[in-house]
Amino acid sequence: MSHSLAIDGGSPVRQTFLPYAHQSVEEADLRAVIEVLRSDWLTTGPKVDDFEAAFAIRVGAQHAVSFSSGTAALHGAAFAAGLRTDEEAITSPMTFAATANCVLYQGATPVFADVTSDTLNLDPEQVAQKISEKTRAILPVDYAGHPAELGPLLEIARRRGLLVIEDACHALGAEYKGKPVGSIADMTVFSFHPAKHITTGEGGMVATDNPQFAETLRRFRNQGISTGARQRQSANQWHYEVVLLGFNYRLPDIACALGLEQLKRLDRNLERRRAIAARYTSALREIPAVISPVVRPGASPAWHLYPIRLDLARLTGGRAQIFQALRAENIGVSVHYIPVHYHAYYRGRFGVRAGEFPVAEAAYERLISLPMFHGMTDRDVEDVIEALIKVVRHYRR
Ligand SMILES: Cc1ncc(COP(=O)(O)O)c(C=O)c1O
Repeated sequence: MSHSLAIDGGSPVRQTFLPYAHQSVEEADLRAVIEVLRSDWLTTGPKVDDFEAAFAIRVGAQHAVSFSSGTAALHGAAFAAGLRTDEEAITSPMTFAATANCVLYQGATPVFADVTSDTLNLDPEQVAQKISEKTRAILPVDYAGHPAELGPLLEIARRRGLLVIEDACHALGAEYKGKPVGSIADMTVFSFHPAKHITTGEGGMVATDNPQFAETLRRFRNQGISTGARQRQSANQWHYEVVLLGFNYRLPDIACALGLEQLKRLDRNLERRRAIAARYTSALREIPAVISPVVRPGASPAWHLYPIRLDLARLTGGRAQIFQALRAENIGVSVHYIPVHYHAYYRGRFGVRAGEFPVAEAAYERLISLPMFHGMTDRDVEDVIEALIKVVRHYRR
C-alpha cells in the first residue's frame, strides 16, 4: 500500500470508485418487470395489491399503501393524520429535508427537537418540551436504520393525544424491542429509493393498523377518488367520486413487480448489511479518533447507513479534509445529514437558528457515512477500512 495519500499524489487504495450506496438488481427482477410490461396493467393493476399485501405481512402491519416515493408517502401520512395549517409536528433536524417538508406540504409547521448524542434519534425529553397546544403529531426518524425511541415517544403521544408518524425510510427490516418497524407507530413510512434495502426505482409505502388511515391514504394517492380503476372495471361502473383533494402519487405495477421480487431478498440484504456493519465496528475499535455508531439494547438496526463520527480533538485535519482524502482514495463517503434547519429554505422561512440544537449540530461537524450497501463485496469493505486507516493515520495528532 502506498503511504502517501492519493489527495497528495499517492496511489489510491482502490482503482475504481466505490459509491456509498448502490442497488442490486438480479435476473428475477428483470423477468418480473418484463412480465408486467407484456401484461394489460402497467399501473394500478394486480401487482400493486400483491406488493402491498406481501409488504404488510413483512412489517407486521394490517395495511400497507404504496406511493410513488418515500416523500409522497410522508405527504400522504401527514394528510391522513389530518395535519392542518395552524398545527405543528415535532421532528428531528438530523434527517433528509423530506421529513420536515411533508409537514409544510400540509401548511403546518415543523418544530424541531434535538437528538440524543448516541443514536442521533429524536430525544423524547426534548420532544416533550416542544409540545404546544398546536402539536398534532410527532415525526421521529429511524436515523441510519436504528429505530427511534418509539416506546417513550408513543407514551408521550398517547398521554398528549398526538399521533406518531415514523419516518422509517432508513429502517425497513429493523426491529425495536422484538417488534418489526412498521408494526409500532400509528403510521410508518418507507422508501424504495435505490440506496435503500429494497428498490422500486422510486417508491414508498405507508404501513398502518388503522383502516381509516389506510382508506384515506389510498384515496389521497389516487386523486382523492373513492374507488380504484380495477374496482370500477370489474363492477362495470363508470361512476366515481372525488371525495378529497388528492394527488397522482401511484406506484405503477412495473415498480411493484420489481418491489415484490426485491422483497423476497430483504432478509438476505439485511443479513449482509449487518455483517458489513459488524466488520466495520470491529475494525474501528483499532482506529483511533474514529467513533462507530451506537446500537442501543433492544434495537436491531437495518443499517441503511454506517455513519462514523470523528474525534476532531485527536486529528489535525477537519471533517472536510478527511472526507476529501477518502474520496481521493476512491471511497465514496457521504455526509448524513446537513441539519434541516441549516438549509437556505428553512433559514429563510424560519430564521437562522444555529446553536438551537447543539447535539445535532455538533454531530454534523463530525459525521462521515462510510459506503454501506448489501451488494458490497468483502474486498470493498476491506478497501474502506484500509483507506480509513491510511487517512486517519496521516491526520492523527
Ligand atoms: C429519512 C428520509 N426520509 C424521507 C426520504 C424520502 O424518500 P424518497 O427519496 O423515496 O422520496 C428519504 C430519502 O432518502 C430519507 O432518507
